[in-house]
Amino acid sequence: MNTPAGYFDSQYAHATDPWHLGERWYDRRKYTLTVAALPRSRYARAFEPGCSVGVLTEFLAARCDQLLSTDRIASAVETTARRTTGMDHITVRQMTVPEQWPTESFDLVVLSELLYYFDTSTRTALLQQSVESLSEGGHLVTVHWNHPVEEHTCTGRDIADRLDALSGLSGLARYDDPDFTLTVHEHRPDPGPVLSPARAEGLV
Ligand SMILES: C[S@@+](CC[C@H](N)C(=O)[O-])C[C@H]1O[C@@H](n2cnc3c(N)ncnc32)[C@H](O)[C@@H]1O
Repeated sequence: MNTPAGYFDSQYAHATDPWHLGERWYDRRKYTLTVAALPRSRYARAFEPGCSVGVLTEFLAARCDQLLSTDRIASAVETTARRTTGMDHITVRQMTVPEQWPTESFDLVVLSELLYYFDTSTRTALLQQSVESLSEGGHLVTVHWNHPVEEHTCTGRDIADRLDALSGLSGLARYDDPDFTLTVHEHRPDPGPVLSPARAEGLV
């Protein structure tokens, strides 16, 4: 079963930043590692569903020409919009995935601390939509908590273990921390070598 909508309503009814994402070194380090793992220095159009209060949004903003960040909760969308005031290349919208999904194509999709709120079939549908939204050579980044939580259907390691089986994705990088697992995949409709950062600059 997907985590019920009421869980998120109740989290934001009691706090502006329910997971304290803007306060801890743990999260700042994880966001720094997430953007450090991005294979390209710049992305033309990125999508970040489940942005919460927009802390990762700010990190991504520095690497993207355009970034669409969304959340199902109106107050989270307002906080992210406030945090990114003046950054005209960031669009913040209220959107519940996977039912609502942007029609445009992206060269980066970032799923951070989101996929464990879905049952297996919804998670697979969301991942397939992410792959379909990626232009050829685009990147899918996932990063998720590894410890058991009542509202979570799986861990970051579980998510990472199943990603390679999805068609159209080739693994570029995986980082396993005791606390979270981070993956980077390239959208490659055909088999062949991934365009690693060194290959992209002609070093191999
Ligand atoms: C734990 S927070 C993660 C925030 C951010 N991605 C990060 O890594 O810092 C999860 C966020 O996902 C949002 N969310 C959960 N289910 C969602 C859905 N189906 N569609 C859009 N947002 C969702 C919640 O409202 C919450 O703000």
